[in-house]
Amino acid sequence: MDLFEKLTAKAREHRQRIVLPEGLEPRTLTAADRIIADSLADIILIGHRQDIMNMARELKLTHLDKATIVDPADENVIDRYAPLYFELRKSKGITMEEARLTTANPLYLGCLMVKAGDADGQVAGAMNTTGNVLRAAFQVIKTVPGISVVSGAFVMLLPEDSTFGTDGILIFADCAVVPDPDAAQLAQIAVSAARTALDIAGIKPRVAILSFSTKGSAKSPAVDKVIEATEIARKMEPSLILDGELQADAAIVPSVAASKAPNSPLSGRANVLVFPNLEVGNIAYKLVQRLGGVQAVGPVLQGLAAPVNDLSRGCFPEDIYKTIIITCNQAIGLKGL
Ligand code: ACO
Repeated sequence: MDLFEKLTAKAREHRQRIVLPEGLEPRTLTAADRIIADSLADIILIGHRQDIMNMARELKLTHLDKATIVDPADENVIDRYAPLYFELRKSKGITMEEARLTTANPLYLGCLMVKAGDADGQVAGAMNTTGNVLRAAFQVIKTVPGISVVSGAFVMLLPEDSTFGTDGILIFADCAVVPDPDAAQLAQIAVSAARTALDIAGIKPRVAILSFSTKGSAKSPAVDKVIEATEIARKMEPSLILDGELQADAAIVPSVAASKAPNSPLSGRANVLVFPNLEVGNIAYKLVQRLGGVQAVGPVLQGLAAPVNDLSRGCFPEDIYKTIIITCNQAIGLKGL
């Protein structure tokens, strides 16, 4: 069974409710139709019912009558969720009128449904910017206990005969969100990435926090940050197999680890690679993807109290379909099912 077959089977077994705020976006509707047809999740579409049904007819989609449709123009809907948004943001000085206006924004309404327990996760971004999708999630859903920073991981699917990672899988983080994490944030990214390894890749995490230095081979404030992050992460999750500061080869090549980091608990067999900042993480995943012919699945947002995932605006229905399945699996993982 490959990774997506496993994720699909788990989604079907523990059916989750996924809200799609871009209910009038054709690729989103196409993906939603397929998710319903395959019995993988209960779909909630945000939009005007008649408009959605008209588009479904034009696209020849036949399963969307089984989706729940929530209209952001419906006063009853705003009455139900605006007080929750007001409660969450009143310390920022917002008025109830402002809360009602924000609640009518589908990106916020979807997150409010998740926060209220009426949905298990959200997928958006086919027609909204990353910043807008993330900001709604940060403000409404917030982070899981013990974590204050949301970050983005990629699941890197290596060729089958690869000796790296576990079962040909490596997790890279953060590749998508936090431009310049401090030591405490980097530690949180490492702990969150370990959770992604378990929930999405189904592998026991072996986490390396990477640097251009291995165990004191170079000295610089950047290296000090990674050393400190490693210490913090160890305190956060004492049972996690984790090490730093390591160069990439000392993290994933056993013979290099034997000479450069002989006492490392990873022994050169890391399957979760944590990068010191977003520049490195984003460049690294794109280079490995392009030069190595490696499939990069993500970004998978990690650290949120309930899953929200962001799509690329150039995405295909297949990408949305897979992102919904990933989101279901994150929700299942967070619930400990
Ligand atoms: N985790 C948790 N909360 C956060 C985070 C985070 N990483 N970042 C911001 N927040 C919170 C803030 O604390 C703030 O909360 P508050 O309103 O309750 O006080 C709220 O979110 C808004 O914060 P801002 O600083 O105004 O957020 P901003 O809009 O500046 O930045 C953003 C958020 C858009 C995610 C920014 O960090 C960013 O642009 N990151 C880079 C994204 C990117 O371009 N990635 C590369 C492309 S993706 C790819 O290639 C796969």
